[in-house]
Amino acid sequence: MKTLKDIKNILIIGSGTLGLRIALASALNGYKVIVYDIKEEAFEPAKKIQASLIKMLIKAGTITQAESEKALENQTFTTDAKLAAADADLVSESVTEDIELKKKVWSQFGKLCPEKTIFTTNTSSLLPSKFAEETGRPERFCALHFHDVFYANVVDIMPNPKTETWIIDLLKDFGESIQQTVVIMKRESPSYIFNAMLLSLLGAAGALVTFDVASIEDVDRSWMGNFKMPMGPFGIMDEIGLDTAWHVVHVFKDEKSKRFSKLLKTYVDQGKLGRKTGEGFYNYPNPRFTEADFIKG
Ligand SMILES: NC(=O)c1ccc[n+]([C@@H]2O[C@H](COP(=O)([O-])OP(=O)(O)OC[C@H]3O[C@@H](n4cnc5c(N)ncnc54)[C@H](O)[C@@H]3O)[C@@H](O)[C@H]2O)c1
Repeated sequence: MKTLKDIKNILIIGSGTLGLRIALASALNGYKVIVYDIKEEAFEPAKKIQASLIKMLIKAGTITQAESEKALENQTFTTDAKLAAADADLVSESVTEDIELKKKVWSQFGKLCPEKTIFTTNTSSLLPSKFAEETGRPERFCALHFHDVFYANVVDIMPNPKTETWIIDLLKDFGESIQQTVVIMKRESPSYIFNAMLLSLLGAAGALVTFDVASIEDVDRSWMGNFKMPMGPFGIMDEIGLDTAWHVVHVFKDEKSKRFSKLLKTYVDQGKLGRKTGEGFYNYPNPRFTEADFIKG
């Protein structure tokens, strides 16, 4: 059994959107970090994004220039899997969301990592038990799911049925040590905590519109007016991207989801994907719901 003081070396597998952020947060909080990726070309863009995150954190007064320099000294990038695994205390895996790839990567690192290593996956949509056996040590394997690390700094711990309880305690301490709010799931359940709630909200909003009960604007107005929120469910979907929303919804085959999926598809087919393309349910950069008269009263 280990405690947080035994965790010094973090191995991040995958230097994409999430991997680079988890790496930076770990390095900024005093851990020695190795970032491994299959592609050397992934490192340059990752370093650039880290540099812009650092700039933002310095500007916000969260860190100093000296702290950021020390963090970058604590971090190395490599495509050498054996070297990356050699002294890892904790692994955080953020490779592309593909079950076969995750199985392959975990059976590779399950063999390469020393006995002391604790394994975590950042998967968004897969249950950890789907590839726990590939790690060769399911009792030391757990989902540790980040959101965006710096702004949405909530992390879900979702054990697989074989995860030992001390791993959960240790991951809670680790998450807090890198400035995350830690939430613990008592058992495996799809979508973690926040996404499960969000999906219900968005599904209900979709049904109100597709069953012709209310308009898009009134659904958003109701949410915003009641909770004093800056946007409603349709504004949120524009932020997420309507293509991503469609990918999530179209796999469900009940009547509500079918109707909602059809609505989303009409936007996706026209290239209206939300804020990122300048148009979705609203037009950007100045969507109607940000105008003062959108909510009266
Ligand atoms: N993007 C998000 O907002 C978000 C949020 C929470 C969790 N996640 C999860 O994090 C994981 C990564 O998502 P992302 O958005 O960072 O993806 P991404 O596409 O930005 O990055 C994936 C990285 O994995 C690397 N990779 C692919 N095969 C590999 C291999 N065999 N070995 C090592 N590296 C390999 C790729 O080169 C790439 O750099 C996924 O499981 C996703 O569900 C993503």
